[in-house]
Amino acid sequence: MPNPASNLPAPHMGEPYLLTPGPLTTSYEVKRAMLRDWGSWDEEFRAITAEMRQLLLGMINDTQGAFDCVPMQGSGTFSVEAMLGSFIPRDGKVLVLSNGAYGKRLVQTLEYLGRSHTVIDKGDYMPPRGSEVSAALLADPTISHVIVVHCETSSGILNPVEEISQAVYAAGRKLLIDSMSAFGAIALNVDEIRFEAMVSSANKCIEGVPGFGFIIARNSELEAAKGNSHSLSLDVHAQWSHMNKTGQWRFTPPTHVVVAFLAALKAHQNEGGVLARGARYTENRDVMIAGMRDLGFETLLKDRWLSSIIVTFFCPADSAFEFGKFYNIMKSKGFIIYPGKLTVADSFRIGCIGQMDSNVMRLVVKAAGETLKDMGVDSAAPAASALIERAKLAA
Ligand SMILES: Cc1ncc(COP(=O)(O)O)c(C=O)c1O
Repeated sequence: MPNPASNLPAPHMGEPYLLTPGPLTTSYEVKRAMLRDWGSWDEEFRAITAEMRQLLLGMINDTQGAFDCVPMQGSGTFSVEAMLGSFIPRDGKVLVLSNGAYGKRLVQTLEYLGRSHTVIDKGDYMPPRGSEVSAALLADPTISHVIVVHCETSSGILNPVEEISQAVYAAGRKLLIDSMSAFGAIALNVDEIRFEAMVSSANKCIEGVPGFGFIIARNSELEAAKGNSHSLSLDVHAQWSHMNKTGQWRFTPPTHVVVAFLAALKAHQNEGGVLARGARYTENRDVMIAGMRDLGFETLLKDRWLSSIIVTFFCPADSAFEFGKFYNIMKSKGFIIYPGKLTVADSFRIGCIGQMDSNVMRLVVKAAGETLKDMGVDSAAPAASALIERAKLAA
């Protein structure tokens, strides 16, 4: 169905746009790719897997051919767990840079894995800085690896991975990156940001549907990972060596999801790759934030820390505002938004990723303005305490 206000077609079944950080709104071509069945052993499906791995590798500017891509069944968390369990030796020690829910999940995963770790905990959204990493590594020579979340999706902050990478390698340690919600829209070139392995999934910025993740890792780390994993199914080394030998996934692959993802990757390439995808999302964000600020809403983050993936807004202090009601009215107008994850202030989030452009974002803002009126909210201004919280980041 065409959307007269947008250059991209509206959701085909007339369902609401997903202003969420994945699953997200996908194109009709991506969905249509799932109408055919594929034999997982068949040569054609093996070729699809190989092409998908090559296209993903093409996104990190690995001119030396030093990296490989290993897809892994399951949601993104499965791939994060696979990466940690496979690349952290059993006698290794990890420094986790945590500033939100996904940093906390890394810590929880390491607890399950029984890997020694220590944490720099920056709370809900404050960024971990290179100088803090340097100090922590100097203080503890037993730390072998550092892990950081690229875009911490729970607040939307874009963490400073470049300065973190410099601090890690200046101290002779290794960096792993959870780039789940950023990869494909925010550049992660290995010639600019050094790392050993990163992870993302099918249903984020490449705009596929959920069902698997992928790990992009240095070949030397993949080789060294043999025997590290605690898990049969999440062993990245075993998946990698089997796939390189046979062209096949070790266990049943999500065939339809993989084929849809290849369609999404080709669309990503046709759009102009990481830069063009990032530019569309940035315009989505800028148009949406400008409109929301005009309505009186305030973002959690100062502009310097905003990602083009998802934006956290404070809930209005007006007593007529209630998030559940706001959500339901927005949904009835065609937009599914996301609750906040902050512990320090009431908030909600609006995603900028998926098959939509700035024209759709203008409609989102219009719907938000109408929804406030429907609810009888006179002012979208947040509580004074929320602004005091925000000032901490500016300091
Ligand atoms: C940064 C980050 N890490 C990990 C995950 C977990 O992925 P999943 O929910 O697919 O398991 C997400 C999900 O949004 C994420 O944004």
